[in-house]
Amino acid sequence: MGLWFSLFAVVILTFVVFMGVEMGKLHFLFGLVVPYAAFATFIVGVISRVVGWARSPVPFRITTTCGQQKSLPWIKADNIESPHNTLGVIARMALEVLLFRSLFRNTKVELKNDPRLVYGGAKWLWLAGLAFHWSFLVILIRHLRFFTEPVPRLLGLFAGIDGVFEIGVPVLYISGLIMLVSVTYLFLRRVFIPQVRYISLAADYFPLFLIIGVGLSGLLMRHFFKVDIFKVKELAMGLVSFHPLIPEGIGIPFYIHLFLVSVLLAYFPFSKLMHLGGVFLSPTRNLANNNRMKRHVNPWNYPVKVHTYEEYEDEFRDKMKAAGIPVEKE
Ligand code: HEM
Repeated sequence: MGLWFSLFAVVILTFVVFMGVEMGKLHFLFGLVVPYAAFATFIVGVISRVVGWARSPVPFRITTTCGQQKSLPWIKADNIESPHNTLGVIARMALEVLLFRSLFRNTKVELKNDPRLVYGGAKWLWLAGLAFHWSFLVILIRHLRFFTEPVPRLLGLFAGIDGVFEIGVPVLYISGLIMLVSVTYLFLRRVFIPQVRYISLAADYFPLFLIIGVGLSGLLMRHFFKVDIFKVKELAMGLVSFHPLIPEGIGIPFYIHLFLVSVLLAYFPFSKLMHLGGVFLSPTRNLANNNRMKRHVNPWNYPVKVHTYEEYEDEFRDKMKAAGIPVEKE
């Protein structure tokens, strides 16, 4: 249900922009208004969600159980798994963000016919996830050529490496291909693994279809339905310099690409894609496990009126004695 709904939504979005530009000549709307509105939604949305998380109380350190905490000197501590200082936290966070370290530990449980319950590693998700995110980043960096004038030399070098196999004219960028293949794997695993399919919702499929749509429209535009790249650059420079203009005659494939990117941007703050910001605010990743070294006092603790045992005994001593209950003070 979620799958078909999401696919339908992305197809409709593509249809809307196609009709809007082809029939309605709404170049201004899809070339300027929508991208600006989407970008503003993205910035405001991301900031407000991050501020919301940052303001949530985190009263104690959540220790993860898979690493030895620092304790007695003769017990070997694991300063990446269970860091006790900022350096360890930085190392743990960097490995998480750059290499998806915790996903590397992903396991699979299977019930064999013998019958035996077998636990095994499951690295494909990690590999595809990593490949997808890194290639996406490379594509974004390469796209900076549309938004900079003069284009930094480093970007040219970067694109040169990405197109090193020199397949086709214009050359096929490896990152574009890797992104599409890996995101397709991420989609197919949701469809073909019954347990994953069972827990998958429209909120899981929609971003996947949207990203497939963005990648596919980009690749098709580069290799098959060519658009005037100089005019695209004029439009992009107009957008970033706040002197917006719509050059005549940029092909529809570009408007489809730009619209799907805009939808992705606007949808981002309301979706699970916010894990981009969330990972940095994740208490199991960003707090040092120094509970044994430092006393953490809950900062909003209000003074609690307590009734100590001494006070209790003072109050009930006579009754306690009469009932034969032992007392500490005679
Ligand atoms: C989430 C952001 C975006 C993603 C993931 C993305 C993805 C892609 C991909 C995969 C390609 C295929 C060729 C390649 O690998 O470079 C491509 C091409 C292209 N994209 Fe994007 N894109 C994004 C944003 C944009 C934006 C904002 C623009 C507006 C200027 C744009 C304009 C283009 C153009 C003009 C091409 C054709 C490039 C060429 O012919 O050399 N893209 N895009």
